[in-house]
Amino acid sequence: MSKDTATFRDNNTGTEIELPVIRSTQGPAVVDIGSFYRQTGYFTYDPGFLSTASCESALTFIDGKNGVLQYRGYPIEQLAEQSNFLEVAHLMLYGELPTEDELAQFRTIITHHSMLNESLRNFFQGFYHDAHPMAIMVGVVGSLSAFYHDSTDIDNPRHREIAAHRMIAKMPTIAAACYKHSIGEPLVYPNNALSYTGNLLNMMFSVPCEEYEVDPVAEKALDLIFILHIDHEQNASTSTVRLAGSSRANPFACIASGIAALWGPAHGGANEAVLNVLEEIGDVSQIPKYIARAKDKSDPFRLMGFGHRIYKNYDPRAKIIRRMCHEVLGKLGNNHGNEQLFELALKLEEIALKDDYFIERKLYPNVDFYSGLIYRALGIPTNMFTVMFAIARTAGWVAHWTEMISAKGQRIGRPRQLYVGPKKRDYIPLAQRK
Ligand code: CMC
Repeated sequence: MSKDTATFRDNNTGTEIELPVIRSTQGPAVVDIGSFYRQTGYFTYDPGFLSTASCESALTFIDGKNGVLQYRGYPIEQLAEQSNFLEVAHLMLYGELPTEDELAQFRTIITHHSMLNESLRNFFQGFYHDAHPMAIMVGVVGSLSAFYHDSTDIDNPRHREIAAHRMIAKMPTIAAACYKHSIGEPLVYPNNALSYTGNLLNMMFSVPCEEYEVDPVAEKALDLIFILHIDHEQNASTSTVRLAGSSRANPFACIASGIAALWGPAHGGANEAVLNVLEEIGDVSQIPKYIARAKDKSDPFRLMGFGHRIYKNYDPRAKIIRRMCHEVLGKLGNNHGNEQLFELALKLEEIALKDDYFIERKLYPNVDFYSGLIYRALGIPTNMFTVMFAIARTAGWVAHWTEMISAKGQRIGRPRQLYVGPKKRDYIPLAQRK
């Protein structure tokens, strides 16, 4: 067997085939099974994609065993320490860190796409006041193609670029409008003098009757959290965006599908669930009871913010956010018991990480375990946490969508299945059915 092939032997028939092995730049190589069905008559079977690479990508690299995360080769720790959200968004979209001029130009473009078509603003009024902000966001983002159809020719690279810019630019405006609608306050227009996260905070928290000043600590904290959330390679929501996009649907609809997938508590909805669980636990003395519930297989309760499909080590993003929690809570003060909740989270982590159940299964805190505590300290309500995640992840989604659509030989994604339903049977007329 040559070094760059793997042999498959069918023990039923004795047939052997050679399959090409494609090397990655880092991380595991893949066995190319594109011809497998043609050659063997078998499909491969991998529910949950435990061993299946669904595409080629040059965006993000994760080594889950060693807790490594890189965007376009740059370690997340370096980007978190030295970069900013728009610079990293540029890196994801264009492949390189921008020069000063490029960054200034990118900032100007994103800033000048942040307003919504005025008719779109009326959409928010149609939602019930207590609608979950994610429900509003899915609907409003899905409707964007009705307003911006001048950038939906996906074969035109310039259209793709404008759609990507629009999406990154408008997401904070939509998110803030979701929030304002839910609390019955007037929607706030974007302010071009503010930074990406400063503008979001202003649109969420300012009111027409008094001056609002963006807190630089909050602005910086949010920017850092957004960097950490930009991308995470082929997770459920990104794969959803890619699959929707593979049918050549318009990019706005594809991002709306990603938002829907992100919403689930096993994915981006976990940050909201973590806070709800911490509040329910309430006190350190109650932790053993909840750890016991998480371990009890007859109880559906899971310790939210713990465990990850890929990380079998500490999630590097959680490490950065935990450190940041110390800083942010220290600077913003102990409003509404934030310090106590943080102490509770630290204790919960300590107890879980010493427990055999969590050790054996390599369950460590993930990005969602501490992010909610920061959001809460910034005054962001719990039901907006996943919306915050969606704003940041939009930069990753559009980068993946662009990468996929511009790839040579792009085809529709169409998984196969293992059919376990009834064999062929004849229709029985209603009168003869028992
Ligand atoms: N609490 C208790 N047990 C858990 C947990 C948890 N949070 N996570 C996994 N397990 C157990 C699970 O019961 C299973 O045990 P056993 O082998 O005895 O059946 C084992 O660990 C492996 O779990 P799995 O569900 O097969 O693993 P997965 O890779 O399919 O799921 C996960 C990964 C993230 C969905 C899961 O760990 C989980 O539900 N965690 C809580 C939700 C959460 O925090 N999600 C955010 C993920 S990171 C950010 C993002 O994706 O948006």
